[in-house]
Amino acid sequence: MSAHQHSHTLLVTGGAGFIGSNFLLTLAQSRPSWKLVNLDKLTYAGNLENLKDLEQRANYEFVHGDICKSADVERAISRCSTTVPLSVVHFAAESHVDRSIQSGLPFVETNVVGTQVLLDVCRARGVARFVHVSTDEVYGSLGDTGAFTEETPLAPNSPYSASKAASDLLVRAAIHTHGFPGLITRCSNNYGPFQFPEKLIPLMIANASAGKELPVYGDGQNVRDWLYVVDHCEAILAVLERGRLGEVYNIGGNNEHPNLAIVHQILSALGKPTSLIRFVKDRPGHDRRYAIDASKIARELAWAPRFSFTQALPLTIAWYQSHSEWLGRVQNGAYRDYYARQYGS
Ligand code: NAD
Ligand code: DAU
Repeated sequence: MSAHQHSHTLLVTGGAGFIGSNFLLTLAQSRPSWKLVNLDKLTYAGNLENLKDLEQRANYEFVHGDICKSADVERAISRCSTTVPLSVVHFAAESHVDRSIQSGLPFVETNVVGTQVLLDVCRARGVARFVHVSTDEVYGSLGDTGAFTEETPLAPNSPYSASKAASDLLVRAAIHTHGFPGLITRCSNNYGPFQFPEKLIPLMIANASAGKELPVYGDGQNVRDWLYVVDHCEAILAVLERGRLGEVYNIGGNNEHPNLAIVHQILSALGKPTSLIRFVKDRPGHDRRYAIDASKIARELAWAPRFSFTQALPLTIAWYQSHSEWLGRVQNGAYRDYYARQYGS
C-alpha cells in the first residue's frame, strides 16, 4: 500500500500532550497505513517536539486549532481522507487537578464546551467511531477497600473531574439521543515518557535529580492506581477497534501505591537522600484513594497491561535522565517556540 492509500483515517485531539503523543508515536508503528491527523491548541501542556519523529511522514498532519471552535474542528476533518472510515480519539483536555482548583473556567471551556463542539461536528460528518478518553476521577474517592466498576455512580470532587464527568455525560447523551457511535474509557493515573513535570512522578524525578525539595501533599498516604502510558495507549486502541459502541470501559493496572512510597522509590533509584522530602499543605478536597476494576476490558477485549511497575518506573526514570534537554526546555519555556520554528508561524 502506498503512503497515500490509507486503510483508515484517525483524528486525534490533544495529540501534543502526554498521552496523545505516546498514542500517536505507537500508532505510527503499529498501524502504518492509517492517516493520522492531530488537532491541538498547544496550550502549556502541548509540546510538538514530542512528535518530531512523525513530522516527515506522509500520513501524519498537525492542525493547530481549538476544539471549542467548530471551524477549527472542520478544518482538521477536512485533512482526513474521505474515501475510508473516519474515527476520532478525543484526548484534548485541561488535565491538572491543582490548576482546576486555582481556576475552573478553562476546564469548563475545553472539557465541557469543547467536547460538545467536537461531538456536534463529528455527528454532522458521520464519523464511524468516537473514543472519548476520560478518567477514573469521575467516580470520586474510595475508602480503604473496593474498586471502581463501570457501574459506580459518578461523584467527581474537583473542578477537573467535574468537567470530565460533564463531558462523559454529553457523550452518553449523544449516544442515547442521536445513536452517535461513541465509546468512553476511564483510566487510572498514567506515568511514562513526555509527561509534563507538574504531575507527581515527573515532578519528583525532576526535583530529586536537581537536588530540590520534593513537595508531598498532606500525609503522603493518598493512593493512586498507576498504569504505564504504553499500556493505556494499547487499551485505547483495543476499544477503538473492537469495543462495543455505546459502552464504557475502565482501564487500570491493578497497581496501587501511596504517594510517599513512590517518592521513596524515586529517591532510592536516583541515589538521593530522603531529607529532600517536604510535607506541604494538602490539596483542597484531595481524593484519598483510586482503584480500578478493569475486568470488563480484560474479558471483552482481552486487554491486559504488559508492563509492571517494577519494570516501568525505572524505565520512566531512565527516560527523564536521558532526556534532560527536553526537560530543561519544558522547564524554561523554550518548548513553546517549537511550533513557530518548525511550522513558521
Ligand atoms: P495533557 O494535559 O498532557 O495534554 C492535553 C493536550 O490537549 C495538550 O496537548 C493541549 O495542548 C491540548 N488541548 C488543551 N485544550 C485544547 C483545546 N481547547 N483544543 C485542542 N487541544 C487542546 O493531558 P494528558 O495527561 O495527556 O491527558 C489526555 C487525556 O487523558 C485527558 O482527557 C485526560 O483527562 C485523560 N486522562 C489522563 C490521565 C493521566 O494520568 N494523565 C489518566 C486518565 C485519563
Ligand atoms: O486518575 C487519573 C488522573 O490522574 C487524571 O485524570 C489526571 O489528568 C491526572 O492529572 C492524574 O490526577 P492526580 O491528581 O491523581 O495526579 P497528580 O500527579 O497531580 O497527583 C498524584 C498524587 O500525588 C495525588 O494524590 C496528589 C499528589 N501530589 C501531587 C503533586 C503534583 C503530591 O503529593 N505532590 C505534588 O507536588
